[in-house]
Amino acid sequence: MENQIITPKKTIFSGIQPSGTLTLGNYIGALRNFTLLQDEYNCIYCVVDMHAITVRQNPADLRRRCLELAATYIACGLDPKKNIIYCQSHVSGHAELGWILNCYTYMGELQRMTQYKDKAAKHADNINAGLFTYPVLMAADILLYQADLVPIGADQKQHLELTRDIAQRFNGVYGDVFTVPEGYFGKVGSRVMSLQDPTRKMSKSDPEDCYIAILDPADVIRRKVKRAVTDSDAEIRYDPENKPGVSNLLSIIAAMTGDSIENVVNDLSGQGYGTLKNRVSECVIETLAPIQEEHKRLMADKAYLQGILDENAQRANAIAMRTLRKVQKKIGFAARG
Ligand code: TYM
Repeated sequence: MENQIITPKKTIFSGIQPSGTLTLGNYIGALRNFTLLQDEYNCIYCVVDMHAITVRQNPADLRRRCLELAATYIACGLDPKKNIIYCQSHVSGHAELGWILNCYTYMGELQRMTQYKDKAAKHADNINAGLFTYPVLMAADILLYQADLVPIGADQKQHLELTRDIAQRFNGVYGDVFTVPEGYFGKVGSRVMSLQDPTRKMSKSDPEDCYIAILDPADVIRRKVKRAVTDSDAEIRYDPENKPGVSNLLSIIAAMTGDSIENVVNDLSGQGYGTLKNRVSECVIETLAPIQEEHKRLMADKAYLQGILDENAQRANAIAMRTLRKVQKKIGFAARG
């Protein structure tokens, strides 16, 4: 077509910690959106193993989980040829830019981070400096790739705000070095709640019956959903404040089917909580079954996964180095011969 302006694709960056079983919260809040966005953007999806060591990890487990998470990315539908899927520790620029940005972040800003406060309370015997500066490393992850958009769940919003503040502060001193990123939050499900305490977010560090794991077999999913906390008034209505349990189940259906909450409620009007729960189990099982199958297939071919990670780390490194060299020059580090 004549006069057609071809605008370059924008960049997406996001990451997930390989620190435990992935949950339906990770899937709905993050992974599902990654797959929806992969055609429109240049996407970079990271296995953030350096973030994971802010709490103690068993080395063999961590190594296995990194591969498992890479397999999950691919099993969820991310094409490793189109998207860059790699491990954070394979690209040294994350640590290098992280250090630099530490010097442009204030203690007071980090002290306000709710994830730090929560984790420090949970791991009182290991409140290490990495846990405190974690959000700066996250800022480095994002800014290193000049990401325009960051798909995340609501719990990461505060970290993204800080990333924006750091980027703007740095740009204010040195000119337009960093792209200031925007968050991307799904219309539904940016905060999937615990099945046992629907006023708290679904988290892999809670007891097993609080969350659905992406790799849970169908019978386990049915059992966990059956036991999910609802309320005693038996009316299917979306009202997160007064009916957090039922509302959470409704948003899970909406997220899994792509339907609006309104339609989901209309479909179920007049039905009991038993029917609601069956509907939840069925659509979760239907969505997760092919992912589980593909995950199993990929995990049986570790050489393939390793090849993907190696190749993609090189692609990531090339992009990261461009930003890192620019930053180093701007702040006055000695030139390289
Ligand atoms: P992490 O590993 O805790 O979670 C990965 C992603 O899943 C989302 N999520 C949820 N969304 C909805 N409901 C829930 N219950 C739920 N639980 C988790 C998280 O919001 C996240 O998007 N700091 C990040 C990892 C990270 C990162 C980054 C993300 C490191 N560097 C750069 C984006 C960009 C974290 O701990 O996510």
